[in-house]
Amino acid sequence: MAGFPSSTKEVEPRGADATERRGGGSGCSDNVSLVVGADHTVTEASEEFCHLIGRRRDEVVGHSPLDFTHPDDVEASRRLMDHSHRQPGKASVLEKRYTVPGGDIVTVRLTAMWHPASEAILAYVTDITEIATLRRRHNVLIESSADAILVIDRYWVVTDLNQAAREMVGPIGTNLWDLLAVRMHPEDLPASFKAIEHAYNSPGLHHPINFRAGVGNDIWFNYSATVNNLLADPAIRGIVINVRNVTAEVKQLAALRENERAMGRALIEISELSDPFTAGHQRHAAGIAQRIAARMSLDPQTIADVALAASLHDIGKAGLPTSILSKPGSLAPDELVLVRSHCEIGHRILTNGGMSVGVTEPVLHHHERIDGSGYPEGLAGDEVSLASQIVAVADAIDAASADRPYRLGLGAGAVVKDLKNKRSILYMPDVVDAALDVFGTFQPVTADANFFSPG
Ligand SMILES: [Fe+2]
Repeated sequence: MAGFPSSTKEVEPRGADATERRGGGSGCSDNVSLVVGADHTVTEASEEFCHLIGRRRDEVVGHSPLDFTHPDDVEASRRLMDHSHRQPGKASVLEKRYTVPGGDIVTVRLTAMWHPASEAILAYVTDITEIATLRRRHNVLIESSADAILVIDRYWVVTDLNQAAREMVGPIGTNLWDLLAVRMHPEDLPASFKAIEHAYNSPGLHHPINFRAGVGNDIWFNYSATVNNLLADPAIRGIVINVRNVTAEVKQLAALRENERAMGRALIEISELSDPFTAGHQRHAAGIAQRIAARMSLDPQTIADVALAASLHDIGKAGLPTSILSKPGSLAPDELVLVRSHCEIGHRILTNGGMSVGVTEPVLHHHERIDGSGYPEGLAGDEVSLASQIVAVADAIDAASADRPYRLGLGAGAVVKDLKNKRSILYMPDVVDAALDVFGTFQPVTADANFFSPG
């Protein structure tokens, strides 16, 4: 019997300490650990096996393996022995636990096979106690999570899930897509589908989205998917999805956004009273910016932010002398510095008012140009944000097309020509293209239009 120790000397167990007993994790994996006769008693046991379960050879040989098997695993072990008898030459595998005198428990992977010539079961044992302990700890963590955690395969079939997920989606074998089709708001289904597909195409990255649970309720979930094909354990191969109820966060954010819009409306009203000319220009620019952003298929919140930023982009001019703002011809150097400061003043006013970066950033940067010739920071290329470029182009279109105290507005043809000339030089080509696409559809925006509401 290859590898089985020939010595029959008694082996003293190394003591109660589990780590010492399994010293170096030698286990019994390479050699036959146990020979169990047809009457289910041990006829031979390896030194390593006896050492592993903390017993002398004479405490093992002549006894049933069930005598030192963990009570919860006795039935499975008995079935394995019966099964082995019926399947000669065929290996059966069982993960099981042995009790060790003193209270320790060792977990092993046991491979058993009936050997007809010996009329006995040959068992190979590998110590996996540390792996099993680690796995139990992970299971406790995952099972205790308030987030629903589940794994789906390529066909969206749920292959593993924790307690929270069981309550949410049902048992293993559920098809997640069928479930979402019934329970998710139909408008959110395409984004959910895309998130899963993106997860497949970019392993390791998370793809979070918020979605509504069905129609007519106000419950929101966050859904984050990542591919875990790199994990060594094939049992958890697939897409890991983490689902969390974020209704409270979504409502809180919506309330903050509403406050932001209310403040925007108040500032616009003040602007109307103090400087009707600038207020009118901002209103028009907001309408144009909103249409450009929509044409570029930006998400509803970004479109709303861009429109609100455009409606307030020159708010920093409040307080500047009208004589300078409406002065025909070029400005003196000190006047130019004063006028240019409106970007930073406007940014400061809105930031101090608690507005979000999506609104304040384009206000600060609406005079930046991609060739670096703009102000206040001289940003260039990708440093210039898309939102600030949309506001810049909308600002330029309205400024060029509207009448000014010192000149009449340019005609539509001249505005288009000017935009084309500055495309890829001062302005992002995508923004100019979108502006040219919608230029013919611009409509005056009424003062009370809530043009910066998302959705
Ligand atoms: Fe400006």
